[in-house]
Amino acid sequence: MMALGVLVLVLTGCGEAATPEASSSSPATPTASAHVELETPTPMSTPAPTPTRTAAPTPSATPTPEAASAWDLTSADSLQVLVNKRTPLQPAAYVPSLVAVSSAQEGGELVRPEVDAALAELSAAMRADIGEGTFVFSSYRSYDRQAQLYNGYVAQYGQAEADTTSARPGHSEHQTGLAVDVSGTGGACRLDVCFGGTAAGRWIAEHAWQHGFIVRYPEGLEGITGYEYEPWHLRFVGAEISTAMHEQGARTYEEFLGLPAAPDYG
Ligand code: DAL
Ligand code: ZN
Repeated sequence: MMALGVLVLVLTGCGEAATPEASSSSPATPTASAHVELETPTPMSTPAPTPTRTAAPTPSATPTPEAASAWDLTSADSLQVLVNKRTPLQPAAYVPSLVAVSSAQEGGELVRPEVDAALAELSAAMRADIGEGTFVFSSYRSYDRQAQLYNGYVAQYGQAEADTTSARPGHSEHQTGLAVDVSGTGGACRLDVCFGGTAAGRWIAEHAWQHGFIVRYPEGLEGITGYEYEPWHLRFVGAEISTAMHEQGARTYEEFLGLPAAPDYG
């Protein structure tokens, strides 16, 4: 457990650096080492599987196969686009329309306009409830920036370990402009799994759905999402879906959509 905890801390979840320059252009610079098996990086050109309503449901929660056909999951511009290890963004070089994050953030954070509006509401509600709002320390990342981060982790730890916390370029929700990494404005446990136990982390886990967000990589569900627990990574999916997921007890987006798990790159 301890070794795992250290590794999670070191790899810093979303591939962002554990240092304050999380959103800067410099590569991640983890500060400890871990023994991992080195693998040769694979090309990122795997065609995206097309989600269908006939796909096998993932384990647990109530499969909702009709959900997959009710939303545009494949267009990069869609607020509901599905991005995971089995489903890359198409086109790979997609760049969304972006605005600056208007709530507390760390220097030039960018998101889709819909996300900024929802985030401002979420942050205000959180502040009203617990006295601190959200602080965004990472948001939109270009394909090249994600490649830089991911390659930094691979060089440091090997591909197998890097893949548990950092998406390969073209496979990151951060490239959609719909994902943000947050802490509370108090900053406790930023980019650390302990964030889930803080007042801010607990509030977000409980209330993010009310503002159209989901905690995309819940604890213990790597077999579905492909990533270890990231209590700080919020994905905007819109209030209709986040509310439905809450009501149905769907723990992951894949589960809600009734689509296959994406534990790896296949
Ligand atoms: N940490 C998430 C999986 C990312 O790199 O997009
Ligand atoms: Zn993230």
